[in-house]
Amino acid sequence: MPYIPDEVLEMPQGFFFRGAVNLDLSNKCTLACLACVRVSNFQGSNKLVPGHQMTDHEWSLYLEKFDKFTISGQSSDPILHPKLDKILSDIHRAGKDCTVHVAASHKPEKHFIKCFKANPNAFWYFGIDGLPKDSHKYRINQDGEKIFKMMLESRKYLNEKRTIWQYLVFNYNKYDLNECRNIAEKNNIVFHVLESNRIKEFSYSDPKNEMGTVMKDIKFIKNEYGKIKDWKYLND
Ligand SMILES: C[S@@+](CC[C@H](N)C(=O)[O-])C[C@H]1O[C@@H](n2cnc3c(N)ncnc32)[C@H](O)[C@@H]1O
Ligand code: SF4
Repeated sequence: MPYIPDEVLEMPQGFFFRGAVNLDLSNKCTLACLACVRVSNFQGSNKLVPGHQMTDHEWSLYLEKFDKFTISGQSSDPILHPKLDKILSDIHRAGKDCTVHVAASHKPEKHFIKCFKANPNAFWYFGIDGLPKDSHKYRINQDGEKIFKMMLESRKYLNEKRTIWQYLVFNYNKYDLNECRNIAEKNNIVFHVLESNRIKEFSYSDPKNEMGTVMKDIKFIKNEYGKIKDWKYLND
C-alpha cells in the first residue's frame, strides 16, 4: 500500500509514518515561529542553528536506504533547499513516498511550482495558522497570503488529497476555524487542525493574549484516534 498520511486516512498518529526518515534539508528558515526550537534554542538564527545544506552525495545515500521520507525536519524549512525539486523528482522516479512540510514563503512562486510539478504524489503540508492575513502572528515573518496562494496553486499539480492545510489553534485564530475549513473544502484541500502541546508550555492565561491557550473557550471533538474532527465554542 502506498504511503498515505494519517491525516488523510484519519488513522492514529504515526501509523503510516513507520519507517520514514525525517529530514532537515538544511539549517535554514526565514521564519521565527514562536514555539519553534529555532527560536527557543537558537534565537531563530541561520548562523547558530547547527547543520548545513544537504549535499547531492548525502541525499543519494538517503535515497538508496529509505522508502519513505518526511521532508520537514525540526529546525528548517525544506522550501529553502535550492534542489528540493530534484529531491522530489528522485523520490517520484524511484517509486518512493514522501510528505513535505512548508511554512516559509520567501522563495519565488516559480520555485514552489517547480517543486509541485516534480512529484505529483508528494503530500504537502502548508503551515497556515489562521486566515492568511493573520498567520504571521505565530509564523513570524511569514507572508500568509503568498503561502496561501501557493497552497491553492498546488492543487493544479498535485494528485487528490495531496494538499493539506495544517492549522495550529491559538486565541487569535480560534474563531476563524469554520471559515477556514469552508475555504479548504471549497478548494479540495484537506483541513488538519492541531492543538499544540508546545504552546501550552507557555501557560499564557490572559484571555486577551493572542497567543494564549484556547482550552477554556473551545471544545475539540476528536475521532477515535484522537484527531480533531470538529469543535464547539463553549460561550455560544
Ligand atoms: C519545525 S517545522 C519544520 C517544517 C517547516 N518549517 C514548517 O514549519 O512546516 C516541523 C513541524 O512542526 C510544526 N510546528 C511548528 N510550530 C509548532 C507548534 N507550536 N506546535 C506543534 N507543531 C508545530 C510545523 O508546522 C511542522 O509541521
Ligand atoms: S517555519 Fe518551521 S522551521 Fe521555520 S521557524 Fe517556523 S516551525 Fe521553525
